[in-house]
Amino acid sequence: MSSKTFYITTPIYYPSDKLHIGHSYTTVAADAMARYKRLRGYDVMFLTGTDEHGQKIQRKAEAKGMTPKAYVDEIVAGIKELWKLLDISNDRFIRTTDKQHEEVVQKIFKKLYDSGDIYKSEYEGWYCTPCEAFWTERQLKDGKCPDCEREVELTKEESYFFRLSKYQDKLIKLIEENPEFIQPVSRQNEMLNNFLRPGLEDLCVSRTTFNWGIPVNFDDKHVVYVWVDALSNYITALGYLTDDDSDYKKYWPADVHLVGKEIVRFHTIIWPAMLMALGEPLPKQVFGHGWLLLEGGKMSKSKGNVVDPVILVNKYGVDAIRYFLLREVPFGADGIFSNEALINRINADLANDLGNLVSRTVAMIDKYFGGQLPENRQAGDYDEDLKNLAASTTAKVEELMDKLQFSSALTEIWKLVSRTNKYIDETMPWALAKDEAQKPRLAAVLYNLAESIRIISILIQPFMPNTSPVIWQQIGIEKGMETEWESSKIWGKLKANFKVNKGEIIFPRIDVKKELEELETIQQQVQKQTVKPEDKTAAKAEKKVADVKEEQQLISIDDFAKLDLRVAKVISAEKIKGADKLLKLQLQVGNETRQVVSGIAKYYTPEELVGKNLIVIANLQPVKLRGVESHGMILAASTPGDEKLVLATVDGDIDSGSKVR
Ligand code: ME8
Ligand code: MG
Repeated sequence: MSSKTFYITTPIYYPSDKLHIGHSYTTVAADAMARYKRLRGYDVMFLTGTDEHGQKIQRKAEAKGMTPKAYVDEIVAGIKELWKLLDISNDRFIRTTDKQHEEVVQKIFKKLYDSGDIYKSEYEGWYCTPCEAFWTERQLKDGKCPDCEREVELTKEESYFFRLSKYQDKLIKLIEENPEFIQPVSRQNEMLNNFLRPGLEDLCVSRTTFNWGIPVNFDDKHVVYVWVDALSNYITALGYLTDDDSDYKKYWPADVHLVGKEIVRFHTIIWPAMLMALGEPLPKQVFGHGWLLLEGGKMSKSKGNVVDPVILVNKYGVDAIRYFLLREVPFGADGIFSNEALINRINADLANDLGNLVSRTVAMIDKYFGGQLPENRQAGDYDEDLKNLAASTTAKVEELMDKLQFSSALTEIWKLVSRTNKYIDETMPWALAKDEAQKPRLAAVLYNLAESIRIISILIQPFMPNTSPVIWQQIGIEKGMETEWESSKIWGKLKANFKVNKGEIIFPRIDVKKELEELETIQQQVQKQTVKPEDKTAAKAEKKVADVKEEQQLISIDDFAKLDLRVAKVISAEKIKGADKLLKLQLQVGNETRQVVSGIAKYYTPEELVGKNLIVIANLQPVKLRGVESHGMILAASTPGDEKLVLATVDGDIDSGSKVR
């Protein structure tokens, strides 16, 4: 048994809506992490589950004429199915309606009451039911919920309160002294500036106006506030305060709680304060990832984006969907989902780059050597370069995975995929095959390709657990020594006498136009996928798409193509009389000489500019600056207040006039 443990959680999901591709995002990410840690020899506990109590669920059930329990049972079954379909390898699934959970939450509540951290009083304030969140008058935004901007309800009831205010200073200290506690870093300031520094008020932690919740066992007209109930899941699932708390002892504190950014607040303020009050250790990290938004509004029909993960998985396979979710957007940032982006990724990265690499290699070994390479091999050009990259990729992947940088980790793996494809172009096996004397070289080239594929197949396992075994089958290896994580760091582990098996193409190419039309049709049929207004994340997301686009300044390749960027060599430069910021430059751009005026006099002397190869926007409309004609603009990088500015140059010698793109 391994001594290193790793405990990772997802939020527990509200069983209130049909889950969409955005929900799958947190779980797929947590799964990739859990798989990665298992591959590295950790004893992993990966927990997910459902958050089933609260006013919101009770109202939905009532609207359907069902009991809350019957209502959630049905949805929870569907959620479990979805995780199976997505190959989620959770070790445990907790439901907040589980008897053990309910009992332990009651014990937690009592413990905090006994220690004086919970006291009885009266709540008068606002409640946002979609968010299940209390707000003070001061926190409201134009009278609405500051999180989702929907109507809040005035609530006045007898309530128990948790002394959250008492923990304010400790929480500030926790965040300031442990930069790892909240990730990404940007979310730390948000918590400090928006919530902690303005001051915490005690938190209402029981409700009396509805009953779908865990009863307070010493005052049963109260039910426990749903967030206190829900957050406790991370320890009740481990048997905290039960006769068998061995898992709690073994796995707590959690290594990482993975959550969407809108619930970072609950996880980094309320949750650690509860644990402090209980005298228990705090989780090591809360990672708040961004949202997956949909073009034209979340889950929108207008652009025909299919967002039902079941449909997408059935069409393209689970590994393609998992790959897309983790590759497309840097983990932490918001990103936009579209059918088109999905299909392009599948075609480019999976069908073209990875799929072709495997099928070409297997086909060549089959064709030139009947499926098995001869012992006589001859090393040659390009081998070292390929080996070096292969041998160094794993370390980079490890470093990025340990920081939950899934997208960058995949980028590193795909650099190796591309390098290996380039090795085929460089060595030209088909040409070697024409010459009998070159057979030993050909054998070495094909071995190197297969070996690189072996390493790639190990590294993609956390993301694409179904693809790796298919690759192994094709290159004739079995799960074992040759597929262990550590073996990806060593070149040459593939046994000399391996035998390939031609098999199916792992990622068939998709006809983009046809497929997009099909998805559009499907989407039109699936009316249900429209956003329900109660889904808070969705409502906010709708207007957020525009913001994100702006933030990321997303432009199409066509927009970029409008710019005519050229390399320009500075022939001469001089100051402009009466304009101490400007310099007048004469630039050589191919056959042409251009005059450009630039505001760089503070940063460069005319002398040091001569001879530099700069980058000019050549198709900018000419303007006059201080009466001097300027035909184009040169590029420079500068700090926000322009304290520092450096010109953009090209890395190496190249003819002026060369296109930059
Ligand atoms: O918040 N993009 O549950 P939930 C990315 N029950 N992530 C998304 C998303 C999107 N479009 N839509 C949803 C709850 N998610 C509480 C948690 S934990 C003690 C209680 C993510 O069902 C969301 O950010 O509303 C969250 O991490 C998860 O799905 C569950 O959300
Ligand atoms: Mg939510």
